Amino acid sequence: MKRITVVGAGNVGATCANEVAQRSLAEEVVVVDLNEGASHGKSLDLWEAAPIQNISTRVVGVGNDYSRTAGSGVVVITAGLPRKPGMSRDDLIGTNAKIMKQVASEIVKYSPEAILIVVTNPLDVMTYAALLASGRPSQKVFGMAGILDTARYRAFIADELGISPRDVSALLLGGHGDTMVPLPRYTSVGGIPVHELMDEAKLTAIVERTKKGGGEIVNLMGTSAWYAPGAAAAEMVEAVVRNERRILPVCAALHGEYGLRDLYLGVPAVLGANGVEKVVEIRLDTKEMELLHQSAAAVKNVMKILDGMDLFDGKTFGS
Ligand code: NAI
Ligand code: 2OP
Repeated sequence: MKRITVVGAGNVGATCANEVAQRSLAEEVVVVDLNEGASHGKSLDLWEAAPIQNISTRVVGVGNDYSRTAGSGVVVITAGLPRKPGMSRDDLIGTNAKIMKQVASEIVKYSPEAILIVVTNPLDVMTYAALLASGRPSQKVFGMAGILDTARYRAFIADELGISPRDVSALLLGGHGDTMVPLPRYTSVGGIPVHELMDEAKLTAIVERTKKGGGEIVNLMGTSAWYAPGAAAAEMVEAVVRNERRILPVCAALHGEYGLRDLYLGVPAVLGANGVEKVVEIRLDTKEMELLHQSAAAVKNVMKILDGMDLFDGKTFGS
């Protein structure tokens, strides 16, 4: 791909730009940030790392000038406030919705065909905001959270069993918040169902730790995580750029799948050159379905706050 843009040169954006460059996913990565010192400085630092990392991808920093992003095939949006200790992701909506409106509108002016991958929190609702602001088809606008949440879950299982996290295969559904729905029934380790290797109490403790995984890091550092989020966003970029058709947990638009519509929520999906190629509907038991619907209700409540801000001329999902 010729050009990929990352908006936001903060912790997650810079890490994502680094990952995208290291994976050689484009000839050029443009990093945009209102804070020009950060976008120029971090991009220069990344370009200076290229000879050591043995890669050719040019990383370029710009300020609030979207003309330099023209013709981007994929755009990752990380611009916005991160949470501080004591804050929930939903507390960020007031500020971040306005940022998302500005960023997504500017992006499509110069890259009308771009696929947008949203990282900014509150994730499920900011992905919806990006859809409204960009006017892109919902298949081309999706969010990153599930890969991160699932990675945390996999890492905790690996710790408990003393094995490599690479061998833990798992799936987590729902919104990126306390209502996320890890699925032990769909978790295996080297092909072995996790229930064969771990008792229920340990697994329940891991599920609970995963749900609060973002907060655990915020409490340790005073701001939110970036290495795993940056790598997770780059994994989605790679699936699109290389048309890998991977099945990954994606914050995708639902149009009736799982009995849900007109919202973005974490579900397994096939990611490829067209963005979300297909939402995969797996069989859930009654309890799992109930938890997924509770999570959807929590996301819909935050969507109402966004709709109430009236940033998008009365436009809502599907209108
Ligand atoms: P950060 O504060 O390090 O970086 C954010 C950057 O956005 C700053 O450099 C700021 O100057 C820039 N920015 C703000 N308004 C802008 C605008 N209008 N145009 C361009 N740039 C603008 O924050 P960090 O840690 O990188 O987090 C970014 C966002 O990602 C937060 O909302 C955070 O909550 C979210 N996040 C989401 C995750 C997920 O799983 N979806 C995981 C981790 C973070
Ligand atoms: C995380 O889960 C804060 O959403 C961010 O790390």
